[in-house]
Amino acid sequence: MQNRITELFKIDYPIIQAGMIWNSGWRLASAVSNAGGLGLLGAGSMYPEILREHIVKCKKATAKPFGVNVPMLYPDIDKIIDIIIEEGVKIVFTSAGNPKTYTSKLKENGITVVHVVSSVKFALKAQDAGVDAVVAEGFEAGGHNGREETTTFTLIPMVKEQLEIPLIAAGGIATGRGMLAAMVLGADAVQVGSRFVASEEASSHRAFKQMVVDAKEGDTHLTLKELAPVRMLKNKFFESVIQLYTTNPTKEDLQNHLGRARAKRGMFEGDLEEGELEIGQIAGLIHDIKPAAQILEEILIDFESAKNEVANF
Ligand SMILES: Cc1cc2nc3c(=O)[nH]c(=O)nc-3n(C[C@H](O)[C@H](O)[C@H](O)COP(=O)(O)O)c2cc1C
Repeated sequence: MQNRITELFKIDYPIIQAGMIWNSGWRLASAVSNAGGLGLLGAGSMYPEILREHIVKCKKATAKPFGVNVPMLYPDIDKIIDIIIEEGVKIVFTSAGNPKTYTSKLKENGITVVHVVSSVKFALKAQDAGVDAVVAEGFEAGGHNGREETTTFTLIPMVKEQLEIPLIAAGGIATGRGMLAAMVLGADAVQVGSRFVASEEASSHRAFKQMVVDAKEGDTHLTLKELAPVRMLKNKFFESVIQLYTTNPTKEDLQNHLGRARAKRGMFEGDLEEGELEIGQIAGLIHDIKPAAQILEEILIDFESAKNEVANF
């Protein structure tokens, strides 16, 4: 399956495994890259030297292209960028910040740069900043998200209408059928997050993966918009946030309640009650924990069968 995204990244299939804090270390990224997709390390939960270790291990585990996702809202970003350059990483996805900040520096070092956005306006800003492709992520997606609640189904065609560079769709895509829909709407590729959380190789706690598998439609919610909006599973911590909202809290109250390391506590350490459990709406369609290569293969098979079905309309 060849198109401008597979050519840009030199991969076999236009499927990108999303960079995800506490979930996507070298095991997951290398498994996806070895299977012909593009694996991404999630630098957002790594100290700089931990990221270096993951890059080194990923290079040993796969000869195929892989990349690093860098959310710009975390500390140590300058060091992270330097390590990426020093270690010869070829692909970087930036998110949660201004695409102008690092694009030139990364590109001067021969790195392909992609920026994640949740609106048409920022897709065009990213294009102006000189990135090679854009990920447009809809309201359904797990993790940090846009404030405007624009769904993937509406965002992709609106971005497509104006963007010239390649477009990657994210948010609510876990199957080949979803991938086909996104590509019909104008995407050149898909970025899949939640589905790869429920993989053998994801670095998150088994109890969190099982909770993702058990989740049903309606079990996630986008909240904490005053800080950085985030979609999470409705657990005891989420209920305490809702309770806090009834008291008309300030931004500082919300920040204090969130505290530090909530996401680590939930997703990595498996505290399903007090932790922040980031996952997308599509969790309701995820029913098992599988090896990443099998997830990718099933997406491809489902994509082909959905395409055949549509051909008979
Ligand atoms: C557990 C989790 C952690 C995430 N962490 C990040 C991150 O560190 N950086 C980022 O750009 N996006 C992050 N995201 C968003 C994903 O990169 C991706 O765009 C999103 O998961 C796609 O939607 P889906 O979950 O419906 O597949 C995260 C998503 C999840 C589920």
